Amino acid sequence: MNGGLREYSPSNFNVLFKNYTLLPYFAIYPGPNAWFPVPNKSILLIMGGGIAAYKSLELVRRLAERGIRSRAILTKAGAQFVTPLSVSALTGEKVYSDLFSLTDEAEMGHIQLSRSADLVVVAPATADLMAKMAGGLANDLASTTLLATDKKVLMAPAMNVRMWESPSVRRNRAILEKDGVLFVGPNEGEMACGEFGPGRMAEPHEIAAAIEQALGADGLLKGVTALVTAGPTREPVDPVRFLANHSSGKQGYAIAEALVAAGADTTLISGPVGLTAPPGVTLKRVTTAQEMLAACEAALPADVLVMAAAVADWRPDIAANSKIKKSVDRVVPLIKLVENPDILAILARGPRRPRLVIGFAAETDDVVQNAVAKRTRKGADWIIANDVSANEIGESVMGGDRNRIHLVSEAGIEDWPDMTKAEVGARLAARIAEKLKGAA
Ligand code: CTP
Repeated sequence: MNGGLREYSPSNFNVLFKNYTLLPYFAIYPGPNAWFPVPNKSILLIMGGGIAAYKSLELVRRLAERGIRSRAILTKAGAQFVTPLSVSALTGEKVYSDLFSLTDEAEMGHIQLSRSADLVVVAPATADLMAKMAGGLANDLASTTLLATDKKVLMAPAMNVRMWESPSVRRNRAILEKDGVLFVGPNEGEMACGEFGPGRMAEPHEIAAAIEQALGADGLLKGVTALVTAGPTREPVDPVRFLANHSSGKQGYAIAEALVAAGADTTLISGPVGLTAPPGVTLKRVTTAQEMLAACEAALPADVLVMAAAVADWRPDIAANSKIKKSVDRVVPLIKLVENPDILAILARGPRRPRLVIGFAAETDDVVQNAVAKRTRKGADWIIANDVSANEIGESVMGGDRNRIHLVSEAGIEDWPDMTKAEVGARLAARIAEKLKGAA
């Protein structure tokens, strides 16, 4: 039992549930970074002048979800695109911009600033910043810091396509690469200036993944294979109608993304959702529960199974080949349902059972109690229980970006605080790594 865990056993079970209603957040949170894949790491973010600077704000949030702290230098040009106030609000730190500011020097000299983080990230990296670093210039805080740092530097370039392809930028990039500077992006696409081609800054999740890799966080689940399911299944009634549910797939996709970021070889089997696959994931799209079962079986063996999909419990006995029409006498058709295979239970008890089997329990009543029973009934190691009933203002976990879960394991119940689905993914990836390491 650790600080965040409640134990349960048949004898104390009822007491715990009585307590549970009194102590919904009982002793859960062992510190802001305790379960993240890269605890206690920080970056120094240098934000150059470019429209992509707004994406760096999102990057700061993404990193915070992974337990990586950011401190920022905002160049003069950068401050034309985002305000120091918004950067400081997101980093929770003073924003630095002036090389000659006496206050800044008194609090933290520029040399100390350049060494204060584990990694220096330049995003957006403009042609100007790249040129300054390649040429060893030191005429402002950003360039001086880049020259003085003893840490690795990662650049996320953002500029017009012609600038990116110009001989001088190419030359500077070659110099920087030779000097050991890491790059992420730029991506190809339409730019703010209306032109098309390479030059768009990489997306925040791509930069976050590159940062994790540079910080050595990607190795936590290296060599581990993971199978994740996500989204609803659709069970056809006829060619135009189906039975389904409100699952958006967001939580399963976030888990797959976090597992890949931690280095796991991850297959995502997804029901019909409007999401794009996280980079690095092997995606297999399915429609029905029976297809999902077949796809899972084809993807085995795996070390970890995370069944985040909201599999339809029933399907119409017969799916009509042509559209069911209203009859003249208005007799309402009766649809006979049959039970779908329970994928989680089948895989958990099958001959190729993954080492760690994790199911979900989407509940509207007696959330934890039902999850505890589900864990035994389905033969899972862990159940992630969440309350999917809508709140007072009609919002539901299904489709939303946040989640509050209870992790039911052999050791007890952990109540996790309300957090983003990305954060749940990152934390779960770290817990999986911890568990597999313990079991190895
Ligand atoms: N699950 C599954 N196959 C099914 C139904 C559910 O693999 N046919 C999995 C889900 O992916 C989830 C877990 O079982 O990981 C629990 O799903 P949930 O819908 O909460 O439970 P049910 O088994 O459907 O039970 P009930 O609807 O009675 O709560």
